[in-house]
Amino acid sequence: MSGIAPTGLGFAGSDFLVRCLYFPKKGLVSYNRNQNGRMLTTRCSISSSRPAAQPRFIQHKKEAFWFYRFLSIVYDHIINPGHWTEDMRDEALEPADLFDRNMRVVDVGGGTGFTTLGIVKHVDAKNVTILDQSPHQLAKAKKKEPLKECTIIEGDAEDLPFPTDYADRYVSAGSIEYWPDPQRGIKEAYRVLKIGGKACVIGPVYPTFWLSQFFADMWMLFPKEEDYIEWFKKAGFKDVKLKRIGPKWYRGVRRHGLIMGCSVTGVKPLSGDSPLQLGSMAEDVKKPVNPFVFFLRFLLGVIAATYYVLVPIYMWIKDQIVPKGQPI
Ligand SMILES: C[S@@+](CC[C@H](N)C(=O)[O-])C[C@H]1O[C@@H](n2cnc3c(N)ncnc32)[C@H](O)[C@@H]1O
Repeated sequence: MSGIAPTGLGFAGSDFLVRCLYFPKKGLVSYNRNQNGRMLTTRCSISSSRPAAQPRFIQHKKEAFWFYRFLSIVYDHIINPGHWTEDMRDEALEPADLFDRNMRVVDVGGGTGFTTLGIVKHVDAKNVTILDQSPHQLAKAKKKEPLKECTIIEGDAEDLPFPTDYADRYVSAGSIEYWPDPQRGIKEAYRVLKIGGKACVIGPVYPTFWLSQFFADMWMLFPKEEDYIEWFKKAGFKDVKLKRIGPKWYRGVRRHGLIMGCSVTGVKPLSGDSPLQLGSMAEDVKKPVNPFVFFLRFLLGVIAATYYVLVPIYMWIKDQIVPKGQPI
């Protein structure tokens, strides 16, 4: 795997170049070049992804459904500005290589269409499908003028209603953290792409600071960078690349984790389904759940989400106070 440096937007303030190379036996190694051009070599932490049997409190389809039942009301105005800005979105979509207006694109977990607005800058809206399991989120997307020609459908990222070898591009931004079985979602991305098609999954990264780790573990899936790479490779993707992203005012800080922390791309080398075999799906959004367990999980998820609303505000204040050029 080769990495791409965050350029211009995203972590502009940090002025660093990050390259991550994946060695199957030795794990993920990252090379950070500081502003004097010196290479700093650190080993990225290695972990196996958490088994699907122990998902975080809101890493369930049903909880995510109810979470967005309420969150959709304020999503574009309150949630995105702290974590997922327009310049981050454009930086994150750049590796998706949307160079032709006639490309057929699917935006999975497309929600209110915030990322789709970035896609339709490069691709004709009539060629873009927005899929989400939340009708409440999709209702917001339907109201957006630039998206009026998009196809908007309800569906599950782990069981896509598209034929095999269907799309030129698969995009999914900020949705993987809710999937009970992310490997299955990425296998689906592979299946629905045409040969030579590209998947672009944008998602969170795991924190290294203990308190942020605590709340991340309470809330939803924050994969490590190597988890993404492994899922892509296992699904059959080639030319897998990871680009780090983050709000400008973080100045490159990643210790608290990031809700939108990386953009991972891979190319489908052969037509047909993924070579990966998986068992039956773990969860269906329509499956009944124990109301008490559901409520408890949901509440803990909301508490952790509140922490992650406060973190970007804290980082923003630090950015305002600490002189430019100094680490925060
Ligand atoms: C953080 S929002 C991201 C929305 C949009 N992509 C954006 O960039 O703003 C996550 C979205 O993923 C959707 N989602 C979660 N799990 C899903 C699943 N299994 N299938 C489809 N959509 C899902 C949620 O309903 C929600 O709209």
